[in-house]
Amino acid sequence: MTTLQEICSGIPLDPMPPAPSKERDDLVPHAPVRTPNLTAAEEITALENSLRYFPSHHHKELAREFTEELHQYGHIYMYRFRPSIAMRAYPINDYPCKSKQAAAIMLMIMNNLDPIVAQFPHELVTYGGNGHVFSNWAQFWITFHYLSTMTGEQTLVMYSGHPMGLFPSSPGSPRAVLTNGMVIPNYSSTKDFERMFAMGVTMYGQMTAGSYCYIGPQGIVHGTTLTILNAGRKYLGVKDLGGKIFVTAGLGGMSGAQPKAGVICGCVTVVAEVSKEALYKRHNQGWLVEVAADLNDLIVRVRIAKDEKRAVSIGYHGNIVDVWEHLVKIYEETGDRLVDLGSDQTSLHNPFNGGYYPAQLSFEESNEMMKDDPTKFKALVEESLRRQVTAINKLSKAGMSFWDYGNAFLLQASRAGADVLKEGAAMGIFRYPTYVQDIMGDIFSMGFGPYRWVCGSGLAEDLQKTDDIATQVLTELAKDDKAPEWVIGQIKDNLKWIQEAGKHKLVVGSQARILYCDQKGRMKLAHAFNEAIARGEVKGHIVLSRDHHDVSGTDSPFRETSNIYDGSSFCADMAVQNCIGDAFRGATWVAIHNGGGCGWGEVINGGFGLVLDGSKAANDRAESMLAWDVSNGVARRAWCGNTYAKDAILRTMEENTRLVVTPSHQVDRSLLSPAHVVNGS
Ligand SMILES: NC(=O)c1ccc[n+]([C@@H]2O[C@H](COP(=O)([O-])OP(=O)(O)OC[C@H]3O[C@@H](n4cnc5c(N)ncnc54)[C@H](O)[C@@H]3O)[C@@H](O)[C@H]2O)c1
Repeated sequence: MTTLQEICSGIPLDPMPPAPSKERDDLVPHAPVRTPNLTAAEEITALENSLRYFPSHHHKELAREFTEELHQYGHIYMYRFRPSIAMRAYPINDYPCKSKQAAAIMLMIMNNLDPIVAQFPHELVTYGGNGHVFSNWAQFWITFHYLSTMTGEQTLVMYSGHPMGLFPSSPGSPRAVLTNGMVIPNYSSTKDFERMFAMGVTMYGQMTAGSYCYIGPQGIVHGTTLTILNAGRKYLGVKDLGGKIFVTAGLGGMSGAQPKAGVICGCVTVVAEVSKEALYKRHNQGWLVEVAADLNDLIVRVRIAKDEKRAVSIGYHGNIVDVWEHLVKIYEETGDRLVDLGSDQTSLHNPFNGGYYPAQLSFEESNEMMKDDPTKFKALVEESLRRQVTAINKLSKAGMSFWDYGNAFLLQASRAGADVLKEGAAMGIFRYPTYVQDIMGDIFSMGFGPYRWVCGSGLAEDLQKTDDIATQVLTELAKDDKAPEWVIGQIKDNLKWIQEAGKHKLVVGSQARILYCDQKGRMKLAHAFNEAIARGEVKGHIVLSRDHHDVSGTDSPFRETSNIYDGSSFCADMAVQNCIGDAFRGATWVAIHNGGGCGWGEVINGGFGLVLDGSKAANDRAESMLAWDVSNGVARRAWCGNTYAKDAILRTMEENTRLVVTPSHQVDRSLLSPAHVVNGS
């Protein structure tokens, strides 16, 4: 078993670890085989690129092995170099280091690769099917060596998983700057990605995987809880979801939060999942309450739970298309519509490489065909999506409310030719909303987003202390009589969440907590945590962070910025500005990515980590950086006309006269009819 000291000592070379066995370890799930279709010349480049991490006397042996990996798995992961250490978030004080900030980064990386957290830990994938922390294991070793040796006057530079090196900087600079998937825009097709990833020159970091900020599934449980609660209020006009049925798909990294959130919200949640492994992982964990034996059993269970108004989640091992079509059949035969709310969280940001399984094939058949006959597989995925949309359309006509859950469902369905466009509307306007358009967009515009923190001591009692502090801070904020009622409503929803968070036992991996907060809340929490560290009430450092899926961090026209209607939803200035601004205002590390959520080429997103150590300097950094990290996006959303954002930025300007944001004046659209413009009248 490797020790922390050893994994910080650089790539083990003389001797190298033993060659990996021919078969992958079947104790953990593995990433689907990729099919990059490299030319012979590109294969040579891929091999050369991987061998350059090693001295030349090892090249002969490794060249043979890496060629096999490339042919067998479509990527060179360098399995031989996967360390044997028990991968988990060790306390910050356990890492050999010269900078505690660097040690905090090591904690976060190891958490992202912990087998109980990561989706495909041996392939360095944290979540979302292809959300990588690194592209290969050599990068892991080099990065750890750098982090353990760097001082507070150096910055680690990461190019899509590749540690380019340590560069001189200053104590106030970020300790790491990460870019993932940054390519020339004209070369940002999925095909380009497959080729460049296989050659080891780019990487899909998803959102929090490639920025080391994933904290397990509780972040998404909280976000999904808020979404389902608000969907009930908005679409069904109810506060109590008892007896309402929510149908969806996916029990993977993020999607696995759906049954847990559904139960917290009090409804009957039905989730289809094609992978037995994924389904039973959630069942064994207790997040999925029941498993139906087949479709008939599923319907029996749903009817009983609906009648009893029982909060329960029911898993179906099989394809979501079969569930939707069965629900249509029942509706057509009996008039009984056994669904009120519908969505989908299959990984459609990655539709043809294991993100979406077509209804015509079994799970195993799909895994074979996607590598043996990708063209036929693509056609089956598209046909399956068309079938899925046909069934959803029928149930929606009968009264079900459906939304896109930020997984590119509508985008990919439209590309597959499914009947998903809004009748009579312009191209690209879908008949269903994204959850950002209808729900999260306004929450983001108020400045609320998925703030989070990790206790660097690894102590559960530190987390409990921070929960208590957060409860006090939110209780005070909820008394603010200057804040509008919609802001107070959000604070109260989150107060309820933080009061109950400990009870739900949501910690998987590091001792972390998620809490939606606005700018004021984030800053007040940072201040209170830092003080508690200084007083010794919290025993170790705290790492602040957030999901990239936030107010300012992400430009994504089919998700985070789908409620931007001034034509700028395809612009990415906000996300890029955000990363730059966070970097010089005090973040410990920053990241900016292509892809994430809706897929490669569809999104630019970024995030940060900021270490609190109880010092005044840490407090100043947090205040400056967190203010920008929220105000940037609120200002942009206000400029684009969102009334909640206009209110929020005005209130922030009143509190800080150094903030001056260009106002967006209201335009009377009746002045702008085509006739007026043409006649000049
Ligand atoms: N809404 C959000 O806030 C949010 C947040 C993060 C991710 N996402 C998006 O949601 C999607 C899912 O993320 P994830 O991390 O759970 O991915 P994942 O790949 O871990 O899980 C998706 C699951 O869907 C299953 N699946 C695929 N096709 C299916 C089918 N036809 N029927 C039934 N099951 C099927 C897969 O077996 C897999 O377990 C991604 O596209 C991701 O980008 C949304």
